[in-house]
Amino acid sequence: MADFFEYIDANLDRWNDELDEFLRIPSISTDPERAGDVARCAEWLADHLRAAGIPSCEVVSTAGHPIVIGERPVDPDAPTLLVYGHYDVQPSEPDHLWTTPPFEPSRRDGRVYARGSVDDKGQVHMHVKALETLLETETGANLNLKFVIEGEEEVGSAHLGKFLAENADRLACDAVLISDTTMFSPELPCITTGLRGIVYTELNVRGPSHDLHSGSYGGAVVNPANALATILAGLKDEQGRATVPGFYDPVREITEREKADLARLPMDDEVMRADVGSTELGGEEGFTTLERLWYRPTLDVNGLLSGFTGQGSKTVLPGSAMAKVSMRLVPDQDPVEVVEAFEQRVRELTPPGVTVEVKRFHDGAPWVADPDHPVYDAAHAALEAGFGTPPAMIREGGSIPIVSMFEETFRSPVLLVGFGLPGSNAHAPDEWIDAGVYREGIAAIANLYGEIAVRLDDAG
Ligand code: BES
Ligand code: ZN
Repeated sequence: MADFFEYIDANLDRWNDELDEFLRIPSISTDPERAGDVARCAEWLADHLRAAGIPSCEVVSTAGHPIVIGERPVDPDAPTLLVYGHYDVQPSEPDHLWTTPPFEPSRRDGRVYARGSVDDKGQVHMHVKALETLLETETGANLNLKFVIEGEEEVGSAHLGKFLAENADRLACDAVLISDTTMFSPELPCITTGLRGIVYTELNVRGPSHDLHSGSYGGAVVNPANALATILAGLKDEQGRATVPGFYDPVREITEREKADLARLPMDDEVMRADVGSTELGGEEGFTTLERLWYRPTLDVNGLLSGFTGQGSKTVLPGSAMAKVSMRLVPDQDPVEVVEAFEQRVRELTPPGVTVEVKRFHDGAPWVADPDHPVYDAAHAALEAGFGTPPAMIREGGSIPIVSMFEETFRSPVLLVGFGLPGSNAHAPDEWIDAGVYREGIAAIANLYGEIAVRLDDAG
């Protein structure tokens, strides 16, 4: 295992400036007005991958946002690792809740605050710097490297699947490495062996053709906001379970072995409660917090809009109401079957006098790893070298829809080694990455490239 810290520490100031530059670009994929910034961000990243050691790196256009592709072939007989990440970010709003503006990176208390700092630009940047470290220290690695960094992960990776399928030969690899997940604590690096899937919908309830005086009409006209509340309330029962027919049928039982693994993790509900700032945690009855997050599906309202939401009061009966509703899925739920059953349930719950339209946005399948592959041994060794502690095996409640597509397209294992921390505020105001984890993670990744080269070579 190589000690990269001398090189890392000699270059850290420059890298911090570069990371700030990367984070200053508002690459918000969901906002059409930001398409130019998203494209500029792809170019920035390609330039920096070129400078780090992939001169042929290119920006490939798609029907959506561009994909950055870098290939560094060293030896046709050596193993090939594909590194995937995303340079797009979620919207920053509500901006007034940020301590410092979302696209003006700010370093405080050993953290870097900015939208995308942890999800996922900071983690992508760590890979770029790990590559630079490996090449500049002449440590090298007998490893063919491919980088695929997309600009649409936060909107469901609509164009990447097709791109992978069409470029399957060019992108063929023995393993896929992704850093877009978290660690249990700054001292405990983690390998993520499971992700939840997702389906994301929007409900539009329409009643009267226009807003009405709530005195002249209230009580005699079906109110779409009330109707939407009825629908949403009916989607979950008193036990915190979704009432979508068949929702739980394919869900795997949690095994005794899995329960024992969970019990060994340093999970403290009170720390999480204080962190999220709620009076108590809550969810499906009969399960612990980690079981609820990693092994159980859920249904949640992500947004609501109807009627008068300004200052003060306005007596109005709204003509329409909208909700964004997502479901997080676990093996072996099927996103398409779930969304169909969901739509049917919504229709059942809709009172007469209003109509409901169910829009489907992206979906993604749930995923579990086969952790017996040698890349997992490589990750174990490299994380121990970077952080001085052997990693824990965890799952995550979030989704990376492309993961199962990578497995299917390349028949290669996917390894998730991420560097976020609990409370990093991904998708929320004041998102941050820990500066110490950024530094140690770069050493871990550089070692990981080397370890994967050796272990996949032995295995092959
Ligand atoms: N980095 C996350 C995935 C993640 C979330 C990993 C939480 C670990 C914990 C990723 O960028 C993400 O947010 N994915 C979206 C996917 C969706 C938009 C299809 C998600 O999970 O909401
Ligand atoms: Zn992400």
